[in-house]
Amino acid sequence: MIAPVNDKGTVKKNFPQVRAGRRSLRLFASSRECYQIPRQIIIGQDKGERRMDLGIVGRRALVCASSKGLGRGCAEALAAEGVHLVMNARGAEALTQAADAIRAAHGVEVTAVAADITTEVGRARVLEVAGTVDILVTNAGGPPPGLWTDWERDDFIAALDANMLTPIALMKTLVPGMIERGWGRVVNITSQSVKSPIPVLGLSNSARAGLTGYVAGTSRQVAGKGVIINNLLPGIHATARADALDAGVAKADGSSLEAARAKRQATIPAGRYGTAEEFGAACAFLCSQHAGFIVGQNLLLDGGAVNATL
Ligand SMILES: NC(=O)c1ccc[n+]([C@@H]2O[C@H](COP(=O)([O-])OP(=O)(O)OC[C@H]3O[C@@H](n4cnc5c(N)ncnc54)[C@H](OP(=O)(O)O)[C@@H]3O)[C@@H](O)[C@H]2O)c1
Repeated sequence: MIAPVNDKGTVKKNFPQVRAGRRSLRLFASSRECYQIPRQIIIGQDKGERRMDLGIVGRRALVCASSKGLGRGCAEALAAEGVHLVMNARGAEALTQAADAIRAAHGVEVTAVAADITTEVGRARVLEVAGTVDILVTNAGGPPPGLWTDWERDDFIAALDANMLTPIALMKTLVPGMIERGWGRVVNITSQSVKSPIPVLGLSNSARAGLTGYVAGTSRQVAGKGVIINNLLPGIHATARADALDAGVAKADGSSLEAARAKRQATIPAGRYGTAEEFGAACAFLCSQHAGFIVGQNLLLDGGAVNATL
């Protein structure tokens, strides 16, 4: 059972609405106002179920490319912390389903905007609907695989547009408002390829390195205004993107999808692929109140696959 409190820690009576989420209860005073739930007043919890309060209940997040995979994991984890969402993807059907499921599970406001986030028109639509945004998670599909001899100028421009210039444009639009309000969080989903190049993903290696350089400089210019920008670097995670990459390997090797997966899995010290849920949990922490001193970092989530000391 959870008792609601006001800012002074006093238990609030006659609270109008209590909604059961998947992992906790959310206490809403109105459609926009949601109360903090300090864990010390959580009564009768099962042993081992205490959770850290991330301090972001009632914040508003824009999570790009979030109907599936890692973006969806981030959307789910933020919603579980009481954050209201604007979700985006190109395909309306999967997006609506994901938004409905998250709304039902966590009792937060979820608005879905079907649009291509890598186009100017798509971004404008998403930003118009999103309005005030406290938390921005940038994401888009990754560039296609190939060989270093395959790519021409247009291929690089498309990759730069999707995986470097789109997140930069989103930050340029939304960070000024966060600075004005004195609080903001940005998490960019990039790739393990930033730390350790992936031979068949030269377009990704290049575009994401560019974004990483931009974040390294920009994050240090806005941290003093309460806006914290970091990057999350996924190694291999069990998503549709991983299936597509494994299918490419299987085709090239003349093997099965299972064999390609087993081969890749054997290169990961954790012995498995990551999950969108654990990726989302890391994202939610970087978006939390507690992440205010983590500035311009590149957090690798790869099960130990990159063999490096730092
Ligand atoms: N999974 C991994 O192992 C892994 C590893 C390293 C890096 N990454 C990178 O992480 C990112 C997410 O990967 P994922 O595995 O989550 O991919 P995923 O499972 O294929 O999901 C991609 C999501 O993004 C949406 N999306 C794609 N392009 C979009 C666009 N232009 N505008 C709006 N929404 C878009 C998709 O919906 P629609 O198709 O309907 O738009 C879908 O919801 C990618 O950039 C990927 O390269 C993934």
